[in-house]
Amino acid sequence: MSKRLVIIGSQWGDEGKGKITDYFACKSDMVVRYQGGNNAGHTVAFGGNKYSLRSIPSGIFNPETVNVMANGMVINPESVVNELSILRDKGVTDYQLYISDRAAMVMPWHSVLDGAYEAGKGNARIGTTKNGIGPCYSDKYSRIGLRMGDLLEPEYFAERLRAALEIKNRELRSLDLPEFDFETVYARYMELAEELGGMICDTSSLINKALKGDGKILFEGAQGMMLCIDHGTYPYVTSSTPSSASVPVGAGISPKWIDHVVGVAKSYCTRVGEGPFPTELFDDRAHDIRERGHEYGTVTGRPRRIGWFDAVVARYTGELAGIDHWALMLFDVLSGLDTVAICVGYECEGEVLQSPPSTISRLARCKPVLIEMEGWSEDLSEMKSYDELPAAAKAYVRKIEEVTGIPVGVISVGPDRSQTIVIDESLREFLNS
Ligand code: GDP
Ligand code: IMO
Ligand code: MG
Repeated sequence: MSKRLVIIGSQWGDEGKGKITDYFACKSDMVVRYQGGNNAGHTVAFGGNKYSLRSIPSGIFNPETVNVMANGMVINPESVVNELSILRDKGVTDYQLYISDRAAMVMPWHSVLDGAYEAGKGNARIGTTKNGIGPCYSDKYSRIGLRMGDLLEPEYFAERLRAALEIKNRELRSLDLPEFDFETVYARYMELAEELGGMICDTSSLINKALKGDGKILFEGAQGMMLCIDHGTYPYVTSSTPSSASVPVGAGISPKWIDHVVGVAKSYCTRVGEGPFPTELFDDRAHDIRERGHEYGTVTGRPRRIGWFDAVVARYTGELAGIDHWALMLFDVLSGLDTVAICVGYECEGEVLQSPPSTISRLARCKPVLIEMEGWSEDLSEMKSYDELPAAAKAYVRKIEEVTGIPVGVISVGPDRSQTIVIDESLREFLNS
């Protein structure tokens, strides 16, 4: 039986990773976030309540599950404290949460610079969440960043803060932006250390202990593979690698431990922010899907762009991340359309491409090769098994498996935990053991 599941977004984010992670977390010993930060917005719904998580893992609702924010993340302590207080207000107080001492720490100038870089790009802006994700990762790789563990050593933290401010204030001055004062930042981060200090530890050894103890562990990706800094639609991407391939480094474990990768995919596609989107729809169907699926950003409230399911993207991300099964999400949303379509290739300058080109200039010239299929009108949201689905919906699922070469292991027919159909036997075993 698979015991170490990686759950990743296979499109442009917001595929429903929060829902699926929470569903499996109820039967897991540990949930680990290994990249990204509070640019994510993961929705979890159960018992009539809805929660939106930014950087806290989606296993937080199960008191038995250990939640880990691992070293590959960029962590904004201010935002974590805020998230915990929102959870507390909603009655979520019984949880286990650990934060890596080696995780990069988001500092107040990161979001200011994120906004300034975006403004400077004009029409070429990325459409970032302005949470300072890119600037924080840049500082990590420039080796001038601060890390969560620094908070536990006030003198060392002060030294790192002084060194960073020297560089960052110079940059802020050059952009005519207000500088940050050492005393103010130091005092605030020491307050945050009071609140979070008890959770900060060497999470890699914690995870490795659980692995050796035969624990069931979920690795929860953020964003989606097409937003990957290496393999996505560069430069319209985030600044990390959402792939299963980033789990070993981002969690501090050996790659040999991973035994199952679930690719979370909407039954259509969405994208927030700028950048090419080959199957994008601009007509009434986009409007219908957006309203039925409540396709507005969890973090920024921006309307999400809508397109058909893109099998070119699915094959590409499936191969890159070693996806074993799809969790096919928001399947209920497609009900009521006369026809549905799947993109199986990109037509570009007389050629049909089977995988996305590397430049967005070429991707923007790609036209989707679509296969149209009959739609269905039945409401799927109360259906509990694959057998109950109407014939046209079953045919759509089978077509996705055929054109991607990857089986569908889970079908989601609504945002709530209860609206989940698990088809694959090994995933059922995970839940039943
Ligand atoms: P994530 O970032 O991948 O965790 O996804 P988000 O939470 O940002 O966006 C997914 C949205 O779809 C959320 O509002 C979920 O509550 C909702 N959702 C998840 N699965 C389903 C589903 O099967 N059907 C419907 N109608 N909504 C769903
Ligand atoms: P979850 O985990 C959807 C997008 C932003 C922007 C680009 C870069 O909820 O799926 P960033 O702030 O990361 O520098 O922005 O990436 N983006 C997301 N889109 N879901 C997300 O996370 C995203 N995180 C970042 O809209 O286009
Ligand atoms: Mg989201």
